[in-house]
Amino acid sequence: MADSPASGSAPATSEPVFSSGKLSAEDVQRIRGDFPILHQMVHGDQPLVYLDSAATSQKPRVVIDKLVEVYEQYNSNVHRGIHALGDRMTVEMEGAREKVARFINAASAEQIVFTSGTTMSVNLVAHGWAAQRLGPGDEILVNEMEHHANLVPWQMAAKASGATLKFLPLTPTWELDVSRLEEFLTRRTKLVAVTGMSNVTGTINPLELLTRAAHDVGARIFVDAAQSAAHGPVDVRSPDVDFLAFSGHKLLGPTGIGILYGKADALEEIEPLFGGGHMINEVTPEGSTWAALPARLEAGTAPFAQTAGLGVALDYLSNLGMETIARQEQTLLELATSRLETIPGVTIFGPPCAKKGAIVSMTVDGVHAHDLADLLDRQGVAIRAGHHCTMPLHERFGVAATARASFAFYNTPEEVEQLAAAIEKAVEIFKRPRRSRGV
Ligand code: ALA
Repeated sequence: MADSPASGSAPATSEPVFSSGKLSAEDVQRIRGDFPILHQMVHGDQPLVYLDSAATSQKPRVVIDKLVEVYEQYNSNVHRGIHALGDRMTVEMEGAREKVARFINAASAEQIVFTSGTTMSVNLVAHGWAAQRLGPGDEILVNEMEHHANLVPWQMAAKASGATLKFLPLTPTWELDVSRLEEFLTRRTKLVAVTGMSNVTGTINPLELLTRAAHDVGARIFVDAAQSAAHGPVDVRSPDVDFLAFSGHKLLGPTGIGILYGKADALEEIEPLFGGGHMINEVTPEGSTWAALPARLEAGTAPFAQTAGLGVALDYLSNLGMETIARQEQTLLELATSRLETIPGVTIFGPPCAKKGAIVSMTVDGVHAHDLADLLDRQGVAIRAGHHCTMPLHERFGVAATARASFAFYNTPEEVEQLAAAIEKAVEIFKRPRRSRGV
């Protein structure tokens, strides 16, 4: 899955491809060399072990350099200036749009809408499509593993339109209970909104089956790919999803840039939510007409510098190969799961490793998730604790918070061991009488 580097930038990695499709320990060390932030001490003398990539990924040097290049050499507004800098920036941004299209196998770059992130992408469809087109009697099918970003906007759209939200139940192993699809997915269903991969359990959902089932009843399907796009290949034409969204910052790119992909006819059905420059065809005092897609949904100045950074990030990922990344992360996941399961009191929430991505959310008996994250942080291990923007799911778990370690291809088996050892230490500390606790 090699790709050409961004025009005017250095190749994305010093060595072009990892052709064996499997990363050696040396490959991973070389990759880690591309990520400046990973090589630091925290709290004075603790080497950083970054296990919070589900929240945001770290950035390789080429992405950081690209942003510097933009601001030093051709920062200029896009699609407006008839001058050299403006032309260069426009070429960079539209080149990035092409790269996104290739990355997810979209039929055309016109089907790629730049947004500020996954949340804005979901809201565009919820408020610009669902709230406008649905009405009483219509149903939107969601489920309780969804991130609030793929739940709250549908609640708002349902309220605005009179449609009803339905929740497909989860199984005891925190997967969608597709055996109950027939009961929940009917001719009343107009949209299925589902994550490609849970940000908590790591559950990878059966998009092929869900897409076919949604289309069989005439519903559209919206896929929140905020997690899944970073961890494996995405092909929006297989399965043939209607909408798909993700954020640049979880794919090695900058913050402030997101993607909404839609089938051409599905995007056409979205009413623009924001009016302003760039999204119009003609403006008169009496009213306005809209530009063609994707401009119609991109009012105002685009996050053009970020698009260039995202383009280089996608080059970097493509250069490694998303299959290679998925395999590498699966190895780390299996190692982490088997090691953490040896620690008494650890409960991991999620399906077996073969059905999930590289995220381990857990509770540890006797240690609150926030205390665990705090004690790990003092040992240099960065994880996330809380409800991870999934309160309904945590309600189902029966706990208010979990501790989440999430892995990326730049993590190592040694870091998995550091995580486990840090948890063991935290458990020991919490066994001590309160007065003598400390790391
Ligand atoms: N959605 C991000 C996470 O799950 C922030 O951590």
